[in-house]
Amino acid sequence: MGMSEGAGEEMSVGQLARRSGTSVSALHFYERQRLISSRRTPGNQRRYHRDTLRRVALIRIAQRVGIPLVEIREALDRLPEGRVPNRRDWKRMSQGWQDELSERIRLLVHLRDSFANCVGCGCLSISHCALANPDDRLGAGGTGPRMLVPDTEEPLPESG
Ligand code: FES
Repeated sequence: MGMSEGAGEEMSVGQLARRSGTSVSALHFYERQRLISSRRTPGNQRRYHRDTLRRVALIRIAQRVGIPLVEIREALDRLPEGRVPNRRDWKRMSQGWQDELSERIRLLVHLRDSFANCVGCGCLSISHCALANPDDRLGAGGTGPRMLVPDTEEPLPESG
């Protein structure tokens, strides 16, 4: 194993796509979103470090469980710069997501348990409906039920 940035250390976008099972367009998207990065050859072709495979795997898993891209980027930004992250770096980064995942699981269980009732009810009351107010953030300060109808003056709460 040499220390040069030889072909063994780097991949083209096609190689990265094949090896990660991700489309080239998705990889370009990840790069535009600054989740992965590449260097350009003199011929202006992208070259990715081998470690990018691990990043792509992590991005896809995180997306699958619904972690927003901005949070994925924040977590990846915490990895060391200027060197390839080691096992401990990755572990520390993933531990930062434990709370986030636990919260999502709690929320999904809550929604699952409320869903059947809400389909029958339809009130979407901010004060007590789990679908209208999935994370309970607004419930505490409300002065009464607010109906989320299409012409309401209040924008729908953004989730995530
Ligand atoms: S729709 Fe009425 S409680 Fe959810």
